[in-house]
Amino acid sequence: MADIQSTQAAAPAIIRRADYRVPDWLIPDIALDFDLDAARTRVWSDMSVARNGDHDRPLRLDGDGLVPLAVKVDGRTLNETEWTLEAGALVVPLGGATHKVEVLVELAPESNSKLMGLYASGGLLCTQCEAEGFRRITFFPDRPDILSRYSVKLTADKARYPILLANGDPVEQGDLEGGRHWALWNDPFPKPCYLFALVAGDLACNADRFVTMSGREVALGIWVREADLPRTDHAMQALKNSMAWDERVYGREYDLDVFNIVAVADFNFGAMENKGLNIFNSRYILADPETATDIDYDGVEGVVAHEYFHNWSGNRVTCRDWFQLSLKEGFTVFRDQNFSADMGSHAVKRIEDVRILRAAQFQEDSGPLAHPVRPESYMEISNFYTATIYNKGAELIRMMALMLGAERFRAGTDLYFDRHDGEAATCEDFVRAMEEGGEIDLGQFRRWYEQAGTPHVRALLSHDPVSRTAELLLEQSVPPTPGQPDKRPMAIPLRVALYDPATGSHHGDELLMLTEAQQRFTFDNFASLPILSINRGFSAPVIVETNRSQADLAFLSAHDDDPFARYEAMQQLMVNVLVGQVAGQSVDVSAVVDAVRNTITDPLLDPAFVAEAVRLPSEAYLGDQMKQVDPDAIHAARDALQTRLGADLEPLWRDIHARTKANGFAVSPAAKGARKLRNVALLYLVASGADDGPAIAYGQFSDADNMTERQSALATLASGTSPEREAALDIFYNRYSDDALTLDKWFQTQAFAFHPDTVELVAELGQHKAFTLNNPNRVRSLYGAFAGNQWAFHHKSGKGYRLVADCIIALDKLNPQTAARLVPPLGRWKRFDEGRAALMRAELQRILNEPGLSKDVTEQASKSLE
Ligand code: ARG
Ligand code: ZN
Repeated sequence: MADIQSTQAAAPAIIRRADYRVPDWLIPDIALDFDLDAARTRVWSDMSVARNGDHDRPLRLDGDGLVPLAVKVDGRTLNETEWTLEAGALVVPLGGATHKVEVLVELAPESNSKLMGLYASGGLLCTQCEAEGFRRITFFPDRPDILSRYSVKLTADKARYPILLANGDPVEQGDLEGGRHWALWNDPFPKPCYLFALVAGDLACNADRFVTMSGREVALGIWVREADLPRTDHAMQALKNSMAWDERVYGREYDLDVFNIVAVADFNFGAMENKGLNIFNSRYILADPETATDIDYDGVEGVVAHEYFHNWSGNRVTCRDWFQLSLKEGFTVFRDQNFSADMGSHAVKRIEDVRILRAAQFQEDSGPLAHPVRPESYMEISNFYTATIYNKGAELIRMMALMLGAERFRAGTDLYFDRHDGEAATCEDFVRAMEEGGEIDLGQFRRWYEQAGTPHVRALLSHDPVSRTAELLLEQSVPPTPGQPDKRPMAIPLRVALYDPATGSHHGDELLMLTEAQQRFTFDNFASLPILSINRGFSAPVIVETNRSQADLAFLSAHDDDPFARYEAMQQLMVNVLVGQVAGQSVDVSAVVDAVRNTITDPLLDPAFVAEAVRLPSEAYLGDQMKQVDPDAIHAARDALQTRLGADLEPLWRDIHARTKANGFAVSPAAKGARKLRNVALLYLVASGADDGPAIAYGQFSDADNMTERQSALATLASGTSPEREAALDIFYNRYSDDALTLDKWFQTQAFAFHPDTVELVAELGQHKAFTLNNPNRVRSLYGAFAGNQWAFHHKSGKGYRLVADCIIALDKLNPQTAARLVPPLGRWKRFDEGRAALMRAELQRILNEPGLSKDVTEQASKSLE
């Protein structure tokens, strides 16, 4: 008994937003001196510290796994009784108002498997500090409201680490005896320590330049392994486009003389906006037609832009505390979404973004990990880099931009940047700047930051022939979420248009503000019941239920002049059929077949839009529409509808597939759209059951001059059982076994596949010689993808759950952040039948019983069981 209890670690402490206090000590300046080596790096830190306010509390410097080898105050070495270590932090009592404090520590980057702090990736040494990695590099008050000027000296072996990079501008460099060299960097902009970065290694540079709107020249560098240089042009173009776009759209200019980006192979997430030295997961830098899909190209463009935009929304104006994370992330996602829309198609970008929001954020918001955009508490901040903070946060900014209009929104952002430049701000500061700069009252709107859960809106349209008016009854409710049983009504901006069936057109697009639990809106001059087009452009991140008939939806799928609403009508038409079938109702499929036929034969439509519109909703999205998810019935119904659409329209798919074959490769929006449509046509053609389907897919796989078509053909084959399946997988493996990013696609394609033995195949792939838990991209490609494959993951035996739980347990010992990201799929047990729910809970419990479990996984698994 005593033994068991002693292995149970104390529950991790809960950090609360309400407990925010200004820092006791400020650190206006810090000089860091790194003697770099993969096995043993020495870090000498020299800080000026200043008492903040009238108090007698000691200086408290956070540390994680550090031991102070020397501590000096004002030049005098302290003996070990003059400081203490408390929960990893170095506590030093100080008497005066300002002091100079120095600390020496030693690190072992090559054994840092968490990839937080200073670590080794390939032959490189690099850092990741957001959110709390700086405390793994040196003792420091690791909180974003401490802004310091950094001067950084790096010394290392010159042959192994010829390139030495840090934040800011380069000052000086030189050679030393014994084959060593050094470089000094200075960042003139005070910054929080989460934006600190350094990189050392053998890197090649794609060098370019950008002249800012005030005529300053900036040296741009994208640093990669020599062999990867030819794959950096798309990222460089994206960077230059981003710099120009932020000047044009927000009036924001870059502020240093250099801007460097480094690509690393081992990275916990997408990329990081360190001041003047962005560090990227290589998957968001490297792209060429041979290895990158169009989705990859778009990912590179979007993430390069995102990190660049952080220079203003995040770095110049940073966050007061981590509860304000969406201040920088939501706003920056909004900015990168609009940038990408401007680079390509607004309509298609909006559809893609909403698809991501619904797949990731709506799921989160309806489960045990739901939290407000501005959370009230956390155990481990790394767990809050979520779709809610990022994507729902972006929707909040989008709603404000819509309510204000372009000009007043710009006035609001100008005021925000001017007022808070050089500060650590809050979400409230942003909203206030919008109110004052945009002259609007956002009182009720603030609830979007406070209340978790996706609002539901019921929209019922009726008509009175006597008064010739239509009446729209809107009702809203926000479901209970953990810690928030009762909700108040939200301020929901809904773009609406009413189509007159007689004329086939509408009387104009209106913005309705739904602010009450129930509200009625009337519209004059309708001889008969109009057709409702609502939440056009997805103006609010809500779930809308309407009383529209399948005929209404079919009309909108053919005529709505708002592309999102048109897409949505088509999706809703399909959802109604599929949900009806899963519920055992006999439903009329022909309306869907007709709508798809109309769409693919409409010569005026953008092929990229057509591809989005005719794709069936995902199994997970269908599950979300049901009280209880039945993964097998959903898979069967969706598969049958795909076959039906394939077979009924087979000649059309054949024709599209043949006609969209390009002559040569381009990354233009038109070329990407053609490939998207071609791949959808292939999918339906194979689904039709036509004898030559697999052969056509195999032909596309073999003949393609680009990865978009090759991988798509592979994915189509991987979801079947044809002999071509094995052949294509083998060829793909042999061709790309030396290229980590492309090999990830081989793992991912199989983990995503609709194949009856996916669980066993994934288990085998987990033992494959090319699989490793040390690389987060590889882990996500296999286990992350698998956990998103509803049909396979939710196999009723529970073997899919066991597989993921085993991975979480093993990975937690190496990399808790990445392990914790695999927990949420197991937490959705309330949405499934009792049998599955019990199996999921058992796996969560087994994870929690693991001795020495990280704070990261403990938080996610324990909340998931509640
Ligand atoms: N700020 C980075 C971005 O641009 C992401 C940092 C993620 N950090 C984490 N601990 N998950 O989105
Ligand atoms: Zn970001």
